[in-house]
Amino acid sequence: MKSLTITRPDDWHLHVRDGDAMRAVVPHSAAQFGRAIVMPNLRPPITTTALALAYKERILACVANGSSFEPLMTLYLTDNLPSEEIARAKAAGIVACKLYPAGATTNSDAGVTDIRKTYRTLEAMQREGLLLLVHGEVTDPEVDVFDREAVFIDRHLRPLRRDFPELKIVMEHLTTSEGAQYVRDADRFLGATITAHHLLYNRNAIFTGGIRPHYYCLPVLKREEHRQALVEAATGGHARFFLGTDSAPHAAHLKEHAFGCAGCYTAITAMEMYAEAFERAGALDRLEAFASFHGADFYGLPRNAGTLTLTREEWTVPETLPYGDAQLKPLRGGDVLNWRVAA
Ligand code: NCD
Ligand code: ZN
Repeated sequence: MKSLTITRPDDWHLHVRDGDAMRAVVPHSAAQFGRAIVMPNLRPPITTTALALAYKERILACVANGSSFEPLMTLYLTDNLPSEEIARAKAAGIVACKLYPAGATTNSDAGVTDIRKTYRTLEAMQREGLLLLVHGEVTDPEVDVFDREAVFIDRHLRPLRRDFPELKIVMEHLTTSEGAQYVRDADRFLGATITAHHLLYNRNAIFTGGIRPHYYCLPVLKREEHRQALVEAATGGHARFFLGTDSAPHAAHLKEHAFGCAGCYTAITAMEMYAEAFERAGALDRLEAFASFHGADFYGLPRNAGTLTLTREEWTVPETLPYGDAQLKPLRGGDVLNWRVAA
């Protein structure tokens, strides 16, 4: 196959930061995707409709004239996000709230300390039809880092879904076979995003030839058997698994650091990486549904009208990109890729 044209895809999980960093990264996503769910984990977090709308305007100011890229905005759920904010958010076109267990990942210290504290707000979300996006990892230091997703499902997700059976929930950046099985077995109110890097790599990638901080993200890469389960989930045609890059830029010097930040920058190679993963699985014909249909259908939004073409063409990913005053190192920097998004 020389080229592949699909309905324009969407990125259902993306970090674009703010300020100069945002100006550096937004064009990469806008070049590939029709829409993106923008994560609210700024400092301070996006906790009100007004903040989200102002953030949306700043993002749109980074998009080239003529691009139809649409940021879909989310609110950061805290222990005291007022339930009254939800109707306001809905009226303003905000589509979801993001649950970060406090301390689970980058900029999550304002996150939820006890899910029961958010129940009135979750009730309002269920009523208004806002989705709940979850970073599904427990923060209990007693729990092994590699088990935190599976334990989250048992301790928190099962009770949450029992108490809010009609709240649409997305398990963001799914990383385990337990997670994939749980989502598959669930009803139409539970979906999951899967990143390209979790489809392509297992945890060995972090430790090959020395510690490789650019492969460190949260949830952390898992064993090969989990990667295989994710490939099966993504390429199997199941409608409740969909694309979410979790592209999460950090200045290179903060990743190459004694306390390196979690997050992989993949926006510049996103569809190329997904194409690589689907091709390896012999499932390129299923890429379009995963990237362009399932997410929109789950969110209850129309599918995009435009298209995206990938061509089979070797190109070398830049090792570094400008990132405000710093540098950004894309995950695949220096690699030769076989697919390329056509301009
Ligand atoms: C994300 C970030 O840097 O904002 N990091 C990551 O490793 N994925 C936060 C997140 O999604 O967990
Ligand atoms: Zn993320």
